Amino acid sequence: MVAVWGPPVLVGLVAFGCSSAAQRAQPAVSTTATTQAPDVQVTAASFRSLKTMTPVRGFFVANLLGNTAATLAVANSKNGGVYPPGTLLQLVPQEAMVKHRPGWNRATKDWEFFFLDVSATGTKIVTRGVQQVVNRFGGNCASCHSAAQAKFDFVCEHDHGCAPLPIGDNIIRAIQLADPRPATGR
Ligand code: HEC
Repeated sequence: MVAVWGPPVLVGLVAFGCSSAAQRAQPAVSTTATTQAPDVQVTAASFRSLKTMTPVRGFFVANLLGNTAATLAVANSKNGGVYPPGTLLQLVPQEAMVKHRPGWNRATKDWEFFFLDVSATGTKIVTRGVQQVVNRFGGNCASCHSAAQAKFDFVCEHDHGCAPLPIGDNIIRAIQLADPRPATGR
């Protein structure tokens, strides 16, 4: 009995499977597809209240590609390390750095810098980029952060080799706590 109905059913399944897979795959095929993983796409909506991020010592971390564990592993390592793509770091609500895919910008170790406008209605990107973004004091993000010891991957904290900020820890803490955006999760 099996020998009688088996083969046609198998042929039918294989034929159906092939054509349906081909139909499904067609719209997703892209002529620009590469073997590289897609880079993180950063928009104003990528930024949320610091209260939704994970505090690490004095700053806050997240990963826009969902890889928060890998970001935290580097942030918590005494010996530093290379942050994974998608990493979002913030000291204050108005400034951020995001790690792009390897090779995105060698001079900034693939970090993009952001100066943000934050309010109760959300976040707006004022300036973004690599070498040209400056903070509220006119200081250039990339040139100051590039002074961090290589193993700390542009992260300054207090003792990685960067020039200090012109405001003390207590003011920074107050600015962090005054984040005006709603503390809704991502
Ligand atoms: C004059 C040097 C200087 C400039 C300019 C500067 N930073 Fe920083 N940044 C620091 C220092 C020092 C810290 C550590 C402060 C602390 O831990 O209290 C820091 C901390 C940070 C952190 C937290 C992670 C870390 O590196 O400790 C982020 C994110 C950050 N800055 C982003 C920016 C962005 C974005 C800009 C430009 C809009 C900028 N910074 C401009 C010196 C600078």
